[in-house]
Amino acid sequence: MLIAIMTACGGLLFGYDVGVISGALLFLGKNFSLTDQGQEVVTSAVLVGSFLGALGAGWYTRRFGGRSANMLAGAIFVVGAFASAASDSAETLTMSRLLVGIGIGITAVAAPLYVAEIAPPDRRGMMITLYQLFITIGIMVSYIVDLAAAPHWRVMFGLGAVPGVVLAVGMSFMPSSPRWLASRGRMAEAKKVLDRTLEPALAETALREIQADLDSQKSQSHWWLAFRSRAARRALVITTTLAVFQQLIGINAIIYYAPRIFQKAGFVDEKAALWATLVVGLVNVVATFITIGMVDKTGRRKLLIWGLAGMVTSLGILGIAFKQFDNSDNQKTSQQASAATATTTAATPAASTFADVASPKDLPSTPEGSESLAWLTLVCVIVYIACFAFSMGPLVWVLIGEMFPLQARCTGNAIACGGNYFANFIVGATFLSMLTAFGASNTFLLFASMAMFALLFVLFFLPETAGRTLEEIERDLGEGTPSGQHPVR
Ligand code: BGC
Repeated sequence: MLIAIMTACGGLLFGYDVGVISGALLFLGKNFSLTDQGQEVVTSAVLVGSFLGALGAGWYTRRFGGRSANMLAGAIFVVGAFASAASDSAETLTMSRLLVGIGIGITAVAAPLYVAEIAPPDRRGMMITLYQLFITIGIMVSYIVDLAAAPHWRVMFGLGAVPGVVLAVGMSFMPSSPRWLASRGRMAEAKKVLDRTLEPALAETALREIQADLDSQKSQSHWWLAFRSRAARRALVITTTLAVFQQLIGINAIIYYAPRIFQKAGFVDEKAALWATLVVGLVNVVATFITIGMVDKTGRRKLLIWGLAGMVTSLGILGIAFKQFDNSDNQKTSQQASAATATTTAATPAASTFADVASPKDLPSTPEGSESLAWLTLVCVIVYIACFAFSMGPLVWVLIGEMFPLQARCTGNAIACGGNYFANFIVGATFLSMLTAFGASNTFLLFASMAMFALLFVLFFLPETAGRTLEEIERDLGEGTPSGQHPVR
């Protein structure tokens, strides 16, 4: 548990930085006279850095192990946080944010992988879910820091160093992953770690299975040969598809634009809209506990299926409910819309600042929504966030951590995580343009259809992995075990 909590600090870094920028940009923009585009560059630097960090982490983790990768990420993050806080120009800030992103990308690969390799099979899901829990807590904390520290943006960025220090220092006291040690031929050390983290009987079996796994793959001299195995290819397709769809179902668009959506639906008071942001953040944290409690007993598939079904439904209702706005907006504000397209093209979700929230450009805050529609919208957004938080949020990280065979693990994780950040960047860069081009209703319906696709994908292609050892999962994937065949033990 200590290992899982320590590693989850990587999630805290991720969440904190996703959230902190919205408050910081308000004041930064003035200090550095940042244009809209300048703000977008500063914001997306983190995502670009995460993408690069995730890809590089594949090589690094394979060579030096998950523990070392997490320590490195913590250290990079501390440097990046201080450099951001001390920046004196938009350029240095962008470079510092890129560095922070690299740290985040490395933990996204190394944290779930390291925890999956060290956790006992019957608690693995819960332990990796702590990573997602810390992401959601990081987002909440950043909202609170933004409110409390305003207008001191240097403090906002600088405080991000705290979880970085905890991660870097804390990890130095943790053991290396037994699977990584074994893959470097350090069997005696691997055995010691297994003895410390598993029951004696389980430790013996685990060591034998790891050894057998390594023997069967010894002849592979290059990492890409690992993907010749059916198990590795299936793991790659399943995890990367789900990692990309975690973003294509619109989670960050909804998280960032929730206040605007509420305003559009009829909650015109700015304070109410800001409160709504906090409510969304809180629901995101609380619903993650459902997974912590259920993931190893109920299994991954069921939670994903329920969650995705809930998201299809809530997004579908939002889409239909917003239809009437789009029609009236089209008639009333066609001129406004084209002006908005010019200013918001390629905006990232995180570029949405509290100022935007107070005066939304693309979603006019006229009190056109009836009271019942406003409440319906609030309920739908909350249901959507809760469903994400107990399904696609944590389970993508759980599956990325546990599905790959040993030899393909680092590279596979890096590709799936890289896909996740890339999709995150794309949704961010296109969301506002989509709103103006297609209208809110069609945008929600598009997200709903993405969630529908992900649901069908899980139903037909995802085998149950709960309660199985990493080596058993590899066997299931290699044998093409039909989805859901292994009930949770
Ligand atoms: C996603 C993030 C998202 C967060 C919300 C994570 O699993 O990868 O993009 O912001 O969940 O809680």
